[in-house]
Amino acid sequence: GITRRYTFNIMLQNVTRLCHTKSMVTVNGRFPGPKIITREGDRVLVKVVNHISNNISIHWHGVRQLRSGWADGPAYITQCPIQTGQSYVYNFTVIGQTGTLWWHAHISWLRSTVFGPIVVLPKLGVPYPFKKPYKEVPIIFGEWFNADPETVIKQALQTGGGPNVSDAYTINGLPGPLYNCSHEDAYKLKVKQGKTYMLRIINAALNDELFFSIANHTVKVVEADAVYVKPFDTDVILIAPGQTTNVLLKTHGSHSNATFLMEARPYATGLGTFDNTTTAAILEYHQNRGKQQLPLLIIRPELPSLNDTAFATSFANKFRSLNKPQVPIHIDNRFFFTVGLGTSPCPKNHTCQGPNGTKLAASVNNISFALPTTALLQAHFFGKSAGVYEPDFPTGPVHWFNYTGTPPNNTMVSNGTKVVVLPFNTTVELVMQDTSILGAESHPLHLHGFNFYVVGQGFGNYDSMKDPLRFNLVDPVERNTIGVPSGGWVAIRFIADNPGVWFMHCHLEVHTSWGLRMAWLVLNGEGPNQKLPPPPSDLPKC
Ligand code: C2O
Repeated sequence: GITRRYTFNIMLQNVTRLCHTKSMVTVNGRFPGPKIITREGDRVLVKVVNHISNNISIHWHGVRQLRSGWADGPAYITQCPIQTGQSYVYNFTVIGQTGTLWWHAHISWLRSTVFGPIVVLPKLGVPYPFKKPYKEVPIIFGEWFNADPETVIKQALQTGGGPNVSDAYTINGLPGPLYNCSHEDAYKLKVKQGKTYMLRIINAALNDELFFSIANHTVKVVEADAVYVKPFDTDVILIAPGQTTNVLLKTHGSHSNATFLMEARPYATGLGTFDNTTTAAILEYHQNRGKQQLPLLIIRPELPSLNDTAFATSFANKFRSLNKPQVPIHIDNRFFFTVGLGTSPCPKNHTCQGPNGTKLAASVNNISFALPTTALLQAHFFGKSAGVYEPDFPTGPVHWFNYTGTPPNNTMVSNGTKVVVLPFNTTVELVMQDTSILGAESHPLHLHGFNFYVVGQGFGNYDSMKDPLRFNLVDPVERNTIGVPSGGWVAIRFIADNPGVWFMHCHLEVHTSWGLRMAWLVLNGEGPNQKLPPPPSDLPKC
């Protein structure tokens, strides 16, 4: 492969949406940020230069980072953040992946404005497993806050309550015509009749899974998280924060004067408040020259209702691997993680806005993960883990619950910086169960450094005797982000073939902030290609 070089200048830029101008953190002054295009097998070098007063760090979401863990990016996990005036070159090769991924800031809530697409084309001469589309377009969903998102999360963490919700969702950075003061701020996709367009869809919203539909058009889903899936047709897609999916849009055979809206709005089952507005973009057919233009008819799509879990379930079940996957059959390491919300004590002399005057929190196996002040990967690599992390993350929940019955009285989480240690090349099965404490909710769990197979999912309590009998070990979908169903569980399998420290967290940003996160530490193997190399010399220091 070749080497592709990019420079990301992290800088402030004034941006106006909804008649509201704010100075916000961007890459090269652009919102959404620049697109990275590469081919499978190419090396990507991104020099990130920090020109702002906040610390920054960039994550290449979904890139496996095989033996390049120093380039993964989550602050205080694989690296210390890049400080003001400093820079760091992220250096990685995309191996064995093609499709759409994305990059985003991975510190505090800066990813709300710092994100962009990663397009991974197949190796030269390797075709798609479908007819080459006429055109390919990224469609990125985001969330716009009139306020500074850093202030929003700081306030929430101080008061212990839920954060203020966003003011709009966006498609390619634009809220679209359904919002006040946004009529001109709509993304417009101009299409020709009878052509196939590939939409590279990315959900970069902070806190919401989104339904998406294009009026009077069906799409064909062909890829998820940069892995091909068995194609299927659908009128509506559902996509969680962190997920990406490629769909083929075949335009109508005859010219149309109508304007078709493409709309996205949330899927939400939790108890908290959320932004329930709708973002829209425009699909418009090219006018034939000389034709008289008729008055435009605007057609809107129909989207499922906000809490349509039946749709969510049947949609999730449609995803199957296209190519025969190598699903681990013999399992070396089994884990059962509860994921969900909880509470922690209110600091003295504070009034907290969580339930019964507590602070809202979130946990995995009752542990709310506390970020260290130095990076876990550095501590591990240099043998300085003492006082930074403990290797005893529990394999099952500390308190057992009946997840479907009355929620337990004890909603308290405990704090800790614990990791699971995995020997190199061992296999892992992980069942994640939504605790439903403080409301049943879908949690999109994202694993860094790996793709995993989604072998099973269901509702209610996971039954370790019966449920494995129904696991799909034949053609499960392979992803990096999967929704733990609202009031249910999901089972995944992966091979720990990538030495390093790998973050796993809910991609609803507020849940991450509350502690729904943990890390896996994969040890080196004995072979020459089974070790994490030493860090690059410009790796930031804390
Ligand atoms: Cu897309 Cu840890 O993140």
